[in-house]
Amino acid sequence: MADATDLENELGHLLDQERFSPPEAFAAGARVTGTQLHDAPGQDAPAWWLAQTKEVLDWAKEPTQSLDDSKKPFYEWFADGELNVSHNCLDRHVIAGNGERVAFHWRGEEGEERDVTYAELLADTQRIANALYDRGIRAGDVVGIFLPMIPAAVASMLACARIGAVHNVVFGGFAPESVVERMHFSEAKALITVDGARRKGKTAAIKASLDTVLEREPVPSLEHVFVVRATGIDTPMHEGRDVWMDEAMAAADPECPAEPFPAEQPLFILYSSGSTAKPKGILHSSGGYLTQTAWTFREVFDLKVESDVYFCTADVGWVTGHSYMVYGPLANGATSVMYEGAPDYPHKGIWWELCERYGVTLFYTAPTAIRACMKWGPEHPRKHDLSKLRLLGTVGEPINPKAWLWYHKVVGGERCPIVDTWWQTETGAIMVTTLPGAQDAKPGVAGTPLPGITVRVVSQEGEVCDAGTQGLLAIPEPWPAMLRTLYKDPDRYQETYFSKFGPGTYFVGDAARQDEEGYVSVIGRVDDVINVSGHRLSTAEVESAIVAHPKVAEAAVIGQADEDTGQAIAAFVTLEGDLEGTDALVDELREHVAQRIGKLARPKRIIWSDDLPKTRSGKIMRRLLRDVAEGRALGDVTTLRDPDVMARLEAQIKSGQVPRED
Ligand code: WTA
Repeated sequence: MADATDLENELGHLLDQERFSPPEAFAAGARVTGTQLHDAPGQDAPAWWLAQTKEVLDWAKEPTQSLDDSKKPFYEWFADGELNVSHNCLDRHVIAGNGERVAFHWRGEEGEERDVTYAELLADTQRIANALYDRGIRAGDVVGIFLPMIPAAVASMLACARIGAVHNVVFGGFAPESVVERMHFSEAKALITVDGARRKGKTAAIKASLDTVLEREPVPSLEHVFVVRATGIDTPMHEGRDVWMDEAMAAADPECPAEPFPAEQPLFILYSSGSTAKPKGILHSSGGYLTQTAWTFREVFDLKVESDVYFCTADVGWVTGHSYMVYGPLANGATSVMYEGAPDYPHKGIWWELCERYGVTLFYTAPTAIRACMKWGPEHPRKHDLSKLRLLGTVGEPINPKAWLWYHKVVGGERCPIVDTWWQTETGAIMVTTLPGAQDAKPGVAGTPLPGITVRVVSQEGEVCDAGTQGLLAIPEPWPAMLRTLYKDPDRYQETYFSKFGPGTYFVGDAARQDEEGYVSVIGRVDDVINVSGHRLSTAEVESAIVAHPKVAEAAVIGQADEDTGQAIAAFVTLEGDLEGTDALVDELREHVAQRIGKLARPKRIIWSDDLPKTRSGKIMRRLLRDVAEGRALGDVTTLRDPDVMARLEAQIKSGQVPRED
């Protein structure tokens, strides 16, 4: 394992370098050079996007309108156009003669391999679409998807898109409780899941545990459960409701026409944590979303579709999986690697083994993963031939310069530009980065807004900040892939995103700085959202899970700076009556949270506290909790109802608990 001095030696002179130009060999072959592209949209970004969409998508009826802001902030894009998203991701490539091109080199956890061509993916998609249609699923109906990283996950998403149904994918790391809750919130009519899922050599009985929760908390709208046979473990099936996916597909017609839908046909809902316990159902629609994911995938990754092999390590259950594993790459007809397993299973060099095996040229991952790889040491990537890699990307959280430099040197061999891409579930697609042939990169700094995109750093009052001054990130102009609303909750959409700076400006929720060249550094969230390894979790969601435990009276959750995961969850917990906090209870509470939300939400640290710092009106002062947890000097405590509470907490922290590792 590498220690700090190894790392300093490894990075050497690079540690002093603040900007990196595209390496010569790369720049010479890059699609985009110079700065022309940023100037291309001129004053009329919507007109420019209208031209782009005609270039990147195959419309059944080409749009004549671009942005419609008459119902602001409920914006529409390309509203008079019609298209079928699955046609754009599949049929058009097959029609163009590329049916034999590999869409996914799939690799199973135990080393199984399967190459799925565009023609095969189209065939599976059509059968799944018909299986859904045969059971009454129609345009606008919501279909839940809870699947591991297997090709059926992609085919299921595209099958929904094909018939205009709205998919609601839930990340495989969530607990069955969270899955059922999301089916309930979205009034899902069907759920596509799996018999069992493999994780690091073990198999979890997914369908059976969903059944247990569904019995306790029935979802009245849920009429059909499709079960993909992935591991062959014993699985209970409910007559009338459940069906094996392979049997339903075999019985279905192989052809399902890709009928055109209006551009604003909803494509998917993705639940994401906000400031309250109830997750937000972020709704995306078709034409604008696919335009920007397709365009950004082509330009930001400098795609050369004939020769590139792309590997995105995200799970399909997150927005990165949606936009840059499924829709962006497939809309471009690209070839990707899809890996079922964890980054350290069966060994810590598995990603690099896959890069060598499939000749990966474009690689996209998260800073937290890079930091884990740094910890495991440079010998893992060095064991493999990574010479085909020509571009690297990151997303999900700010990347610290050391991790950036390590990625650049050890993985990229100082030959590959790095695109640090800033965006959100809400933005749908990349908004800020550096275009790899055209701009220098600065370690730890995301970059400039892409062509056709405007962002600003502003004060609390909405005034533009001077260069170098920290403020709030805001987006003053609508963009094609933006969320359209929060599902069944338009008021919360307006309130969350368009109340802070007025109806026309989108409030991002990130603190940021912009330098003289317009490069944006994103500092972190300003709301009660914690970013653990690039996964967004709300303090309120974790708190309500902890408080549901019978021994707990009250809890306050904060994000604490963490070297590996960016932020880690720390929970201050007050127990009922005279109960004493013990190590066994720490484990019990962690397990309790894992059961209710999922392992990713388990607090790393639990701090017992007799009381919590509250203002006179009863609001918990999380700022003080963050200070005390990170060992900082406490600021003003005079507004507290009980000013002594902080001193007691500090003493308690010093008496110490050991944080739990996952
Ligand atoms: C953070 C993930 C710094 C940010 C695609 C944002 C980043 C939140 C970056 C969205 C980046 C994402 N640099 N911070 N390159 N990318 N973030 O919705 O706080 O899971 O608001 O979307 O992640 O997380 P989400």
